[in-house]
Amino acid sequence: MSAHPFITPAPPGYEPVPARVLTDIATLPCDLYIWRGPRPILYAMRGGDLRKVITRAQRGMSFLVREIDSDLLRGALAASLPRVLANQRMTPVERSKTAYSIAAKVLTPVFTRENPLDHDGLLLTHQTIDAITLHLIDDEEMVWAMVATMQKHVATHTHAINTAVYGIVLARFMQFGSTDAIRDVARGGLLHDIGKNRVPRVVLDKASTLDASEWQVMRTHVKAGHDMIVRALGYPPSYAHIIAEHHERCDGSGYPAGRLESGIALDSQLVGIVDAFDALTSKRPYRMAVSAFDALHIMRVAMRGQFSDEILREFIKLLGGFQAMSAGMDSGDLAGVMRVAG
Ligand SMILES: [Fe+2]
Repeated sequence: MSAHPFITPAPPGYEPVPARVLTDIATLPCDLYIWRGPRPILYAMRGGDLRKVITRAQRGMSFLVREIDSDLLRGALAASLPRVLANQRMTPVERSKTAYSIAAKVLTPVFTRENPLDHDGLLLTHQTIDAITLHLIDDEEMVWAMVATMQKHVATHTHAINTAVYGIVLARFMQFGSTDAIRDVARGGLLHDIGKNRVPRVVLDKASTLDASEWQVMRTHVKAGHDMIVRALGYPPSYAHIIAEHHERCDGSGYPAGRLESGIALDSQLVGIVDAFDALTSKRPYRMAVSAFDALHIMRVAMRGQFSDEILREFIKLLGGFQAMSAGMDSGDLAGVMRVAG
């Protein structure tokens, strides 16, 4: 598990930015500061010398930017993502880590409940995840590097990015359809829980089991998320149904409509599977993370009937291939999940 890249102290009015996420931007979009004394010191000016940034990046250091420049910075970072993903000076793992950090930096405000989701913010979100989608469709090495890079700590935006990345990788593995179809899985996967911004913290962060009325509140996140996206765009996008259906389950036990398998779109079923898997394998306030093996076992046995057998089998095959390439992954014998579950 990696440390969170942005939990670095910053004085009021400033935010920290690791220098390495800036190295592929075309032009500095705002002033950069360093913080050694009582006050931040101007280090490089807007439009200024990127070599200073690269030197500092090589030493693993951070800058500060003023919070009022945050949107400028996020726009420049999102625009730099295709260059980062294709940067042959870095190894696939370095590229993945940098891309993940950039995505986290660009997307964090989208998942912050204080910020209403607006049109520009949503387009920036699309731009960011689309860059990752297009790259992962073409680059096998980056697929594995990206899966290995996922951060499994408690944060809404990391769960969102992970769900999108697993979604892209599984849809690609299953030859799910056109680039547009995979792009929709990625966008829907990224934004599936955006409605949780509307669920009160007291319910969302509750460490013990939710009671019936709290569950009712929690379940509203599906429609709230769908409506937030439609409102921000002004029309329902082609992935809106994924947000609306990601908690429907094949045996009818899901919500909000309790639909059966034949009534749930395939891409929604796929996102439902990778959402559940990432949730189980990530640490939560109320429980530890379970291993990939245990998560798949739970989904195949304890939750039997809830997920499409075919999509779940493909996901297990996909992760089994990853396990074979990654000796250190704490996943147990994934093929065993198939044998046990039949
Ligand atoms: Fe959800």
